[in-house]
Amino acid sequence: MKKSIIILSMLIAVLSFAGCGGGEPVEEAAPEPEPVVPLTAEELEQVQVLVEDNICTECHGENLEGTETGPALAAVRQYWTKDLLIKYIYNPEFFMVSHPEVKRRNPGFDIDMPPYTDLSEDERRLLARWVLQQSE
Ligand code: HEC
Repeated sequence: MKKSIIILSMLIAVLSFAGCGGGEPVEEAAPEPEPVVPLTAEELEQVQVLVEDNICTECHGENLEGTETGPALAAVRQYWTKDLLIKYIYNPEFFMVSHPEVKRRNPGFDIDMPPYTDLSEDERRLLARWVLQQSE
């Protein structure tokens, strides 16, 4: 009788240990960068006006190489999809509440990127495509 209780409790211990999942956490594979549909000449003209009006390059540099007030954007394709960028540009500070990795990736900037709530979704889409097109 006693023996079977011991065996039973050992069995329970083994089962609950196995239930823990154990093992190493599985690293999530980095998603493949989204293919970029190149901007047409007309879209390029439109986006250049947007970039100038919204001073993107003042913080991110003429060739998006980064400045003291904004990070380089050379590798954004590895982290961003067009749809997420459209949301991010609308209100970066708010977006980063649910995506703190953006801040973690870009430490040391005193001022967050400003919101662009007055741009239309189409305008933000053009900006997103422009940024992605220049990234590797
Ligand atoms: C006042 C400076 C400033 C301006 C203007 C600005 N940004 Fe930013 N941007 C930043 C900073 C700083 C970050 C890093 C995140 C943070 O701290 O807000 C950032 C982050 C980004 C990121 C994400 C980078 C990453 O590694 O994930 C993208 C994309 C981006 N900006 C695009 C733009 C575009 C497009 C515009 C113009 C519409 C723009 N930025 C205007 C300062 C700026």
